[in-house]
Amino acid sequence: MHSVDATTESMIRSVLAYAENRLRLDPVPLDRGSRDPAELDAALKGLPGARPHTPDQVLGVWASVMAPAVISADSPRFLGFIPAAPTKASLLFDMLISCASIQGISWLEAAGAIHAENLVLRLIAERAGLPETAAGCFVSGGSAGNLSALVVAREVAKRKAGPGRRWRVAVSEDAHSSVTNALRICEMDPLIVRSEDHRLTGAGLRSAIEADGDPRSLAAVVATSGTTNAGIIDDLAGVAEVARDYSLWFHVDGAYGGAALFAPSVRSSYDGIEHADSFIVDPHKWLFAPFDCAALLYRNPSVARSVHKQDASYLDVIHDTPGEWNPTDYAYHLTRRARGLPLWFSLSVYGVDAYSEAIETAIGLARLTAAEIRRRDNLELVREPELGVVLFRRRGWGPAQYTRWADQLLEDQVAFIPPSAWEGETVARFAFLHPHTSMELVRQILDRMA
Ligand SMILES: Cc1ncc(COP(=O)(O)O)c(C=O)c1O
Repeated sequence: MHSVDATTESMIRSVLAYAENRLRLDPVPLDRGSRDPAELDAALKGLPGARPHTPDQVLGVWASVMAPAVISADSPRFLGFIPAAPTKASLLFDMLISCASIQGISWLEAAGAIHAENLVLRLIAERAGLPETAAGCFVSGGSAGNLSALVVAREVAKRKAGPGRRWRVAVSEDAHSSVTNALRICEMDPLIVRSEDHRLTGAGLRSAIEADGDPRSLAAVVATSGTTNAGIIDDLAGVAEVARDYSLWFHVDGAYGGAALFAPSVRSSYDGIEHADSFIVDPHKWLFAPFDCAALLYRNPSVARSVHKQDASYLDVIHDTPGEWNPTDYAYHLTRRARGLPLWFSLSVYGVDAYSEAIETAIGLARLTAAEIRRRDNLELVREPELGVVLFRRRGWGPAQYTRWADQLLEDQVAFIPPSAWEGETVARFAFLHPHTSMELVRQILDRMA
């Protein structure tokens, strides 16, 4: 299994040929995700088993049955949830990292990988206007980033006020589900702040705190820079001011929208983000990196380190290394893939300006789509898009019609565009991210609502 023998040679040829072919597909097929488990079971019978199989036999099953049962998140026709669109350079470098088992745990073991990752974190921190001392690490996703940051927020509050208190965090109704989940895991409770038009504002936060019977139990506030369902950017400057007045940890969840810090046309909407105590953005979303990759930044990383650093006799050595920066000290993980490196490689190859352009393309497409929807009598915009998400309704339709429309679009391999909900009503939703999604495709999808 570990030597370069005939089986290895055969796999190098066939697996790399498959990868090469996939990398050259433009566009990739959309495919279908959901399958009858019995059908998948039948195709996989005996895999794995006690006895070996030829690599081509196993790869054949993957290519013919399993791969088409995964919707390609990187297809320009993937318009649901939050899509992905890794660049060719990032995909290629990701393969290299896997081949070389590149990890990014400690400076002692992986200074080269960590240094390159840190340059990307610095770039993001600069865009956010965070101080030069801001730093962090890459984690697996926004959920892991939110959790790691909120754990630090809770510890900071505990250190100030002492133990024995149940902490709360102010969040808007539109905060991502992973935030509520993180609070539950950390045994903190949400103070739900009613927002104006789904946007958390400083004024809304202040009145919620003033009306609250126990404001001293608040440890933090979470603002979102690009809500998942509608792409709304909270009033970061206003929220930052209230956070400062009440000594709250200010966390900004930019898992989806944080990438648009690189888009000049909307950059001013992010004003106030420079005050964040912690901030996350998922490069596996709109910074065109492969799964799975989230950047987690702290204004004061030494506080995060004092919370997350793992101490054990066998780990002393990684903390004694001169000049050490151990990404493992800044989140709840230990072993980690150097998952920031595909982004470092891709940014270096294409240049940061190409990223700005690609992000602006999605924002532009959302604006054009909104204009197209306004032109059609049977359609109505739910709200003006701020980023790459467009929510709209087909007049007269109920949930069953939206579902039929979306199912047929997937069946015909036109698009993956599952319906969403807005204030209790089923609506349609475009999530634009791939720079190759075309207006022609948008029109084709809208025409099917006639
Ligand atoms: C605003 C926001 N926060 C957090 C997350 C969770 O990120 P992940 O799925 O990478 O864990 C998402 C995912 O869509 C998101 O949109």
